[in-house]
Amino acid sequence: MKLTLRVWRQQHARDEGRLVSYEAADISPDLSFLEMLDVVNERLIAKGEDPIAFDHDCREGICGTCGMVINGVAHGPRPSTTACQLHMRSFKDGDTITIEPWRARAFPVIKDLVVDRSAFDRIIAAGGFISAPTGCAPEGNAIHVSKEKADRAMDAAACIGCGACVAACPNASAMLFTAAKVSHLGLVPQGQPERYARARKMVAAMDEEGFGSCTNHGECEAVCPKDISLEFIARLNRDYFKAALAERPASNRGEGVG
Ligand code: SF4
Ligand code: FES
Repeated sequence: MKLTLRVWRQQHARDEGRLVSYEAADISPDLSFLEMLDVVNERLIAKGEDPIAFDHDCREGICGTCGMVINGVAHGPRPSTTACQLHMRSFKDGDTITIEPWRARAFPVIKDLVVDRSAFDRIIAAGGFISAPTGCAPEGNAIHVSKEKADRAMDAAACIGCGACVAACPNASAMLFTAAKVSHLGLVPQGQPERYARARKMVAAMDEEGFGSCTNHGECEAVCPKDISLEFIARLNRDYFKAALAERPASNRGEGVG
């Protein structure tokens, strides 16, 4: 295949950045999208030019490290597919492909296609844990979890923290990510002690990081490579509402003071 790539090049966070065109000839349709970028980078290095910086690790769709906007769509044209699992056979010979980084105030560009997603880590640190008593590990069957709850918790736990939901949202909201992280713990018995505080603290951390509000566009669900459902946002909203009610001073709840 012969392709024209329009790639966002930005030296550092304060650089203005710009789209630069590259001709990519002799590209096998069997290459993954990241392997195609590897080939382009080898050629740039051979010419003494700066290779395109992009994030990657597992290249198997499980770590959430890769992420780029391909022709205007987070992770590219294939539904439920990370950029690393996308293959060049999804494009046509002669195509022009535009490649940009995630764009969100909370994800500043480090270089080219690499953004700083540590804001997600701080949301996790605010509440993505459970309290466990010390001592021997409890007997495996001592705490019963229904099949339905276990399945839903696993659906939420599928979130790989890639950030595509933020990149696709017109408000750059992190609600789908936060909802997935709140829900996978809040659906199982082990996550109940901190359930409502977790919702409150993780939403507060999300707001502090500068992510926007959710206004139900649904773009996040459409691009999520792990099919995280908007239902988890509804679940987070319910938990957050209950947490807010529980925290109201008694005088505001119509109850006697003292
Ligand atoms: S909810 Fe989906 S798109 Fe968002 S971080 Fe998790 S896996 Fe990525
Ligand atoms: S490199 Fe790990 S999900 Fe793409």
